[in-house]
Amino acid sequence: MAQTIYAQLAGIGSYLPGAPISNEALIQAKGLDSSDEWIVARTGIAARHHAPEGVTSSMLAEEASRRALADAGIDAADLDLIIVATSTPDMIFPSTACLLQGKLGNVGATAFDVQAVCSGFVYAMTIAEKFIRSGSHKSALIVGAEVFSRIMDWQDRGTCVLFGDGAGAVVLKAAEQPGLLATSLHADGSQADILNVPGQIHSGQVVGDPFLRMDGQAVFKFAVRALTDSALECCAAAGVSSEQIDWLIPHQANVRIIEAIGKRLSLPAERVIVTVAHHGNTSAASVPLALDEAVKSGRVKRGQTLMLQGVGGGFTWGSVLLKY
Ligand code: ACO
Repeated sequence: MAQTIYAQLAGIGSYLPGAPISNEALIQAKGLDSSDEWIVARTGIAARHHAPEGVTSSMLAEEASRRALADAGIDAADLDLIIVATSTPDMIFPSTACLLQGKLGNVGATAFDVQAVCSGFVYAMTIAEKFIRSGSHKSALIVGAEVFSRIMDWQDRGTCVLFGDGAGAVVLKAAEQPGLLATSLHADGSQADILNVPGQIHSGQVVGDPFLRMDGQAVFKFAVRALTDSALECCAAAGVSSEQIDWLIPHQANVRIIEAIGKRLSLPAERVIVTVAHHGNTSAASVPLALDEAVKSGRVKRGQTLMLQGVGGGFTWGSVLLKY
């Protein structure tokens, strides 16, 4: 009988550009009618990072990827799959994944971008797992990289305080043991209006609104319900109860959303990773950033069961349950 192939997490890395920008510093710099108290109380965010002018998603991705490759002990030349999740690509085309591939000096790997906004990383991980399990690919680099500071309307205090820039990456390798245990991915295009960047490029002009727009309360409610359901679906598929999750590592958008999900899954706060305070919402980069910090700080250990979760524009959402 053919041996089952699993996808195993072999390395993790992340990168945040420049120095942290505190709430007070952002309020001052942008002349916002806001306060540190309001931002912390409503979101849990204390600081974020902004990429300097000229620094793009593929550059952040390269830094995070080099760290993940070093952690996995793999040479970039040996990758056969590169997926970048981003909503802030360097160019309309080629893909950020191809630009990253060029920077890493890999030739020949399958390389493409995934556009699922804040769910992009769990979408990309799930896709990579299917490539690996099929036997067609053996070493995958999965990256979430964003420069959301470029799509902020600095007059809109309801959104511009929430987001930041950064990148996170993992290496997945074919293995005889799991690995990823279960995944779930969903989307509901009827919810496109509650979070979007509606503009487009047409005949050399930006047509429409090029800034992020959000109905915060609608997003809040949707995210809590979708991520709770998705976690339970993933657990059921793997035959694991939610109590058996050692660490919930959800999309880092807002502390109140994260707390609400933890509560619904009966997970104590000590088993939920929260890093949003010092990097804000970095969209597709948020889950690998949180995972990397949780591993490097010694909280997440080999052999533990992790639930990674993303939710974002589309609307899209999903979970990856894995044995680290
Ligand atoms: N500083 C001060 N006041 C503010 C700010 C700010 N930065 N932003 C909004 N306000 C004001 C509003 O103008 C409003 O004032 P008004 O009552 O005079 O009209 C008041 O605060 C309340 O506004 P609400 O939008 O009702 O505030 P709410 O409690 O819903 O909090 C928030 C807003 C933080 C955006 C919340 O809805 C939320 O967290 N939603 C989830 C959104 C999210 O996390 N999105 C991330 C992207 S999506 C994703 O990643 C899944």
